[in-house]
Amino acid sequence: MANIKCIGILTSGGDAPGMNAAIRAVTRAAIYNGWKVKGIMRGYRGLIYDEIEEFKTNSVSNIIQQGGTILKTARSQDFRTPEGRKIAHEALLREGIDALVVIGGDGSLTGAKIFAQEYNFPIVGLPGTIDNDLSGTDTTIGYDTALNTIMEAVDKIRDTATSHERLFIIEVMGRECGFLALNGAIATGAEAAIIPEISMEKDQLEELISNGFRKSKNSSMVLVTEGEITGGAMAIADRVKTEYPEYDVRVTILGHLQRGGSPTAADRILASRMGAAAVDALMDGQRNVMIGIQNDIIVNVPFSKAIKKNKPLGDGLLSTLKVLSI
Ligand code: F6P
Repeated sequence: MANIKCIGILTSGGDAPGMNAAIRAVTRAAIYNGWKVKGIMRGYRGLIYDEIEEFKTNSVSNIIQQGGTILKTARSQDFRTPEGRKIAHEALLREGIDALVVIGGDGSLTGAKIFAQEYNFPIVGLPGTIDNDLSGTDTTIGYDTALNTIMEAVDKIRDTATSHERLFIIEVMGRECGFLALNGAIATGAEAAIIPEISMEKDQLEELISNGFRKSKNSSMVLVTEGEITGGAMAIADRVKTEYPEYDVRVTILGHLQRGGSPTAADRILASRMGAAAVDALMDGQRNVMIGIQNDIIVNVPFSKAIKKNKPLGDGLLSTLKVLSI
């Protein structure tokens, strides 16, 4: 067993529903095993500016159902510099923190990997992001809740789309990753998803129109991933207006509402399992790994693998959407 007496916990990057359930699980599992827990506020920034407080079991009471993160979050520019990381390391030594649990996405775990290597410091990561863009895990904390939020919103848009016989282009989050758009489209019966993974290969808008998606329908919904690769909803709508003026097109950008709300049961359970597993991993002497889930089994994924880009899309998702949207 690693010689750990006290762990620090922080959330970093974009918040995600279920982060609080993860904070609760890590805190309770660590205390259960006889460790002290210190909560670090505002991500890595809290290490640099010394915003650290001891957590007891009741510090995490009544939070499992809350969206956001009680630890607050930030994207720290200081932590990107060697000077900033040196100050962070000094804070950890001063506070008697022997290991860290970092809950966040790609950028946060990249920071964790650099810091762990620089200072030979034990860190375990939890995948906390609505984007589901971390490799080595089937899903991430917050993704299921965001998908459900998208589904509810798109179901409502469908009512007005049908009444007016319009084409709606609906932009969802995900950065360079199309999971939210693709599974959101399947869950809502949308006609298509325009996603970054395919954008380099073919013109998805052109394909959608030339497939004659209006053959059997008067209204249509297309989900598009935000970002430069797809061009986002506004750019696609502009193209429709110029190239296919016969369509009455409207745009909805779902934006940050996708990051809020009470986590679903699936996210609460995932976060609880992963949080407890992070403590197990540290007790086991594991370091510099992200906790993942594969086929319902908890796994440890090295940071370098977790942050690798190009996570494969789920088996058959694209073809299912295509077949079902005729
Ligand atoms: O990574 C999560 C995420 O919500 C992305 O989907 C989105 O591009 C980004 O964060 C938005 O970040 P911010 O809240 O800083 O605008």
